[in-house]
Amino acid sequence: MGRFNAFSGALLSLAILPLANGAPAAVSSASASSSPNPPLRGSEDLLGYSPSNVLTTENTDDVPYQPVEGQNLDAIDGFYLDFESVENPQPIRGSKGGTDPGPQKGNDNYDRINSDKLAPPGTDSGSTINAQWPMGLSHNRLGLNGAGWARQENTEVMPAAKAMAGVDMRLEAGAYRELHWHVASEWSLVLNGSARIAAMNEEGQTFIDDVSKGDVWFFPPGVPHSIQALENGTEFLLVFDDGSFSEDNTFLTSDVFSHQPREVLSKNFGVPIAAFDNIPTEELYIFPGTPAPKDIQEQNVTGSAGSVPKEQSYSYHFSEQPAHEVPGGSVKIVDPLTFPIASNFSAALVTVKPGGMREIHWHPSSDEWSFFIQGKARATLFSAPSSATTFDYRQGDVGYFPRSNSHYVENTGDTDLIFLEVLQADHFSDISLGQWIGSTSKQIIRDSLRLSNETLDQLKTEKQYVVAGSTNLTSFTQP
Ligand SMILES: *[C@@H]1O[C@H](CO)[C@@H](O)[C@H](O)[C@H]1NC(C)=O
Ligand SMILES: *[C@@H]1O[C@H](CO)[C@@H](O)[C@H](O)[C@H]1NC(C)=O
Ligand SMILES: *[C@@H]1O[C@H](CO)[C@@H](O)[C@H](O)[C@H]1NC(C)=O
Ligand SMILES: *[C@@H]1O[C@H](CO)[C@@H](O)[C@H](O)[C@H]1NC(C)=O
Ligand SMILES: *[C@@H]1O[C@H](CO)[C@@H](O)[C@H](O)[C@H]1NC(C)=O
Ligand SMILES: *[C@@H]1O[C@H](CO)[C@@H](O)[C@H](O)[C@H]1NC(C)=O
Repeated sequence: MGRFNAFSGALLSLAILPLANGAPAAVSSASASSSPNPPLRGSEDLLGYSPSNVLTTENTDDVPYQPVEGQNLDAIDGFYLDFESVENPQPIRGSKGGTDPGPQKGNDNYDRINSDKLAPPGTDSGSTINAQWPMGLSHNRLGLNGAGWARQENTEVMPAAKAMAGVDMRLEAGAYRELHWHVASEWSLVLNGSARIAAMNEEGQTFIDDVSKGDVWFFPPGVPHSIQALENGTEFLLVFDDGSFSEDNTFLTSDVFSHQPREVLSKNFGVPIAAFDNIPTEELYIFPGTPAPKDIQEQNVTGSAGSVPKEQSYSYHFSEQPAHEVPGGSVKIVDPLTFPIASNFSAALVTVKPGGMREIHWHPSSDEWSFFIQGKARATLFSAPSSATTFDYRQGDVGYFPRSNSHYVENTGDTDLIFLEVLQADHFSDISLGQWIGSTSKQIIRDSLRLSNETLDQLKTEKQYVVAGSTNLTSFTQP
């Protein structure tokens, strides 16, 4: 006996179809030349109940699956569920949820890498903002002649991320990000390779420097700058202090030249109109260039104003700053206390060892824009009074945690997790839940949280930043 596909309406081989008079009759396959092509719309007889309606009886109650470690445990324990290597991940946690018989969700890799979405911890509730954007879903803007690319995250894709936006940009060896300026401030962390950056401020003071992986630069609003990859190419992350920033709306030199009357250019630069015969008529944006000379002095141009004073430098060689070791990893901070020109950009680069976790905290002074550079993580965004959503992050993802909304970042992989937290603040700050509870009278905490005296004795009065934890992600005890 053949089957009728309820979605396509196609007869798969032989099926029983109701006739208008209600009597079923066997008909042969749709390919039979005798059956006419059905009209686009069906019969009025299909409306509502009729004894002749066909009821399909596929069994959806028998979905085979293997629960992963932790999946059968109480949902409020909320262990990380590793769905990556299971055949058929199911939206089940403890006694909650139920099987998903299909249709398949198009790409079940989403389910595999977002287990906290498919089977959320029992402590998740309500709805929060979306705190995740994978750069892998951002439309890429490709540069000219193999020179590079750029993909961005902004409020178009992450509507609640209003305070900051980000761009991941690649420049191949010798390629330029075209000379430009913008209304927003630009903060950058070099992710790989090295680049030469140059700029000029309102005083006419100039700046030039070479930066490499792990270094940071900053250009204030309106300060025009250039970025060129050195001989091995580069990739960098840009963060802007405006969530609606778009890379497509910067002031490019090609555009500023091509939108002035030639007579005006001629007068402005004191040269004949013909001098501008070859200027680009379209944006170059990302394009190949002549390799930068090794000796930076060859490109160091200064006028009578001289160069930008050291204390206002546009770069900070963050790669050379040793990390501060903490129990579960390390942290290093760059903010206006050491990088003054980057006013209002405060960042922490956090490394979390396997099993470890950036402790539960919040930032009283700013939203946090974060970027996952290496590894796997999850975080729960808690928003008062009772909304909580857990997100799973991978390298290349953007995270966003609104001001004073608590979150932790747990390493869910077996390699070091490295991520960046960026705030709009004059210095980096956070409140640690553990430190606060540990720094409050035991009597008050005993009355409020009903913790045992033994537990109260374990609480710490010091901020941990990153706590160490068991690499067994379903362990009931911690080292
Ligand atoms: C930098 O790029 C090289 C070449 O692709 C790669 O081997 C290396 O892993 C990259 N570094 C990081 C930190 O991703
Ligand atoms: C480019 O890579 C080569 C090989 O690793 C290295 O010797 C050279 O110093 C690098 N150049 C720059 C500018 O980093
Ligand atoms: C550029 O030249 C100025 C003036 O000579 C000097 O103060 C500055 O240090 C130079 N910059 C670099 C990167 O060498
Ligand atoms: C710094 O950022 C905060 C948080 O977004 C904002 O309220 C404040 O106005 C900013 N300060 C400056 C000087 O831009
Ligand atoms: C816990 O400690 C408090 C204060 O020392 C004491 O009064 C109380 O009896 C203790 N509770 C238990 C269950 O031991
Ligand atoms: C992790 O810990 C749980 C609970 O103690 C235990 O049942 C499980 O076997 C452990 N898993 C591994 C891989 O050691």
